[in-house]
Amino acid sequence: MSGTVTVVDHPLVQHKLTLMREKDTASADFRQLLREITMLLAYEITREMPMTMREIETPLERMQAPTLAGRTLALVSILRAGNGMLDGVLQLVPQARVGFVGLYRDEATLQPVQYYFKVPDALDERLVIVVDPMLATGNSSAAAVDLLKKAGARNIRFLCLLAAPEGVAHMQQAHPDVPIVTAAIDRQLNEKGYILPGLGDAGDRMFGTR
Ligand code: URA
Repeated sequence: MSGTVTVVDHPLVQHKLTLMREKDTASADFRQLLREITMLLAYEITREMPMTMREIETPLERMQAPTLAGRTLALVSILRAGNGMLDGVLQLVPQARVGFVGLYRDEATLQPVQYYFKVPDALDERLVIVVDPMLATGNSSAAAVDLLKKAGARNIRFLCLLAAPEGVAHMQQAHPDVPIVTAAIDRQLNEKGYILPGLGDAGDRMFGTR
């Protein structure tokens, strides 16, 4: 999966995404749809999780049965919109450890600056899934992955709802080892860094702010 971008074109994902894009969709529906799509995307991004066999006993006999191997995965939300994707993954992988990365943009340098960083231990032994619904410029995503690599993460995947071609290119250039899974790649960014046609500000739509 390394270096790849996977667009999950499943009809349920695409139908729900259309509902999310519509400007009159209420915040509660927006959050619910994001949770549902995230679950479907998480199914795809966890496809290659390592497995092992263990002996179990069915009501009829003993057998060797497949089970997830190694440390549980680390799920890392880029604040604040990433939080809207946590529940969808956690419903599928309830044992996942959860981390948070907070970044703001320095208005002078335009570079992302860290204001919060709290992640699970033993990152080097875990599959790390970074979630942020909008891969726009790619600045915060690439910076978050930089921080996670400095903290020891070796096996990182990036899960988003919508991507801009600019953001995908940025991530592929900065972190070619990090596969991306998304529901769609839209046309372009506008001058303010919003994805077109997009769905607006994901955080505002999720939390009813503005
Ligand atoms: N972040 C958002 O919430 N929306 C965009 O279109 C781009 C970045």
